[in-house]
Amino acid sequence: MLKELQPQPKDKILMLMEMFKADPREQKVDLGVGVYKDANGVTPVMRAIKAAEKQLWETETTKSYTGLAGDPAFAAGMRELVLGDAVPADRVAAAATPGGTGAVRQAFDLVRMANPDVTVWVSAPTWPNHVSILKHMGIPTREYRYFDDETCAVDFDGMVADLDGLKAGDVVLLHGCCHNPTGANLTLPEFKKVAEILNAKGAIPMIDIAYQGFGDGLEADAAGVRHVVSACPESLVAASCSKNFGIYRERAGVLMAIQEDAAKTAVAQGTLNHLNRQNFSFPPDHGARLVGMILADDALKADWMAELEEMRLGMLKLREQLAEELRKLTGSDRFGFIAQHRGMFSRLGLTPEQVEKMREDHGIYMVGDSRFNVAGLNEKTVPLLAKAIAAVDKV
Ligand code: LMR
Repeated sequence: MLKELQPQPKDKILMLMEMFKADPREQKVDLGVGVYKDANGVTPVMRAIKAAEKQLWETETTKSYTGLAGDPAFAAGMRELVLGDAVPADRVAAAATPGGTGAVRQAFDLVRMANPDVTVWVSAPTWPNHVSILKHMGIPTREYRYFDDETCAVDFDGMVADLDGLKAGDVVLLHGCCHNPTGANLTLPEFKKVAEILNAKGAIPMIDIAYQGFGDGLEADAAGVRHVVSACPESLVAASCSKNFGIYRERAGVLMAIQEDAAKTAVAQGTLNHLNRQNFSFPPDHGARLVGMILADDALKADWMAELEEMRLGMLKLREQLAEELRKLTGSDRFGFIAQHRGMFSRLGLTPEQVEKMREDHGIYMVGDSRFNVAGLNEKTVPLLAKAIAAVDKV
């Protein structure tokens, strides 16, 4: 029977990682997968994570199972980090998941349980794996306009016009901050407008927040999420700790279901636990526990926040440097949006052929839709990228 299996399409982002590794050229720059790298090209273990790991090693007395929803300190810490005091704690059901992707997957499962006819609306474009998971699960999707290729900014009028087609019970997937792949983000007034539309239509927001702290800062990056969850009677939030805690391989994420009242929240909590049990039983604990420890300890939290802020400011500086280099090289502000975008990614608006040319002629790797990872750059590689963009842009 297994011989009937068909080859699956390769994930385009992960395929780039392999291609980059296999490239023998010394002069090559990896701007593909969304992993933070410092100026030396290293993805560091953050100081607070190391300190928490040491503490955990010294104090942990068992590796027995946690609860199905994971460590309660992790859930409480993440609730506070992402939602602040936007909604009372007794309206938030939360369960740890294997990474942010696990939270997204569990969220799709949950909405399908609640509404077997659900349609999930995604931004055009969105993280390709959103669409891939939805397709794998057989959940119908619709796109709403989001990114204007001409201006490289959000096409908010187009988004509002498309959301007019929502039906009651549909789910609208939003990026909390640092939109992946475009880097173009909704403003707080735009989040407010979206919440109004969803409420008027009886649709439910699902917010994927995987880069909190990488855009305008931890609080500012959560402002849209906090508004939406407070303005809508029901919502879902899938949060990742991979990037902002730098614990990619530990797979730490959380799915939060915000309900109207405590009784409904208890049912949602039971459902999240049930879904974890069905899909993988207990969620991974190590990364989540470290996050829970950091968020509950003032000194560790302050150190984590300081290091995260250094990372964010470093990325911002690289954005400004690149926009400036391109301004000089092209004699125009055409690429000025790079300094306006926020987060790890920006979409340059190059064709797939131009992206391929960047790879072949210049050893610069980025996703085919011209998404590049700002954190893959450093002061020395910014000019290389700028020259390569200017060169292929003329072709
Ligand atoms: C990305 O978009 O590059 C990251 O979210 C990593 C991934 O899993 O695709």
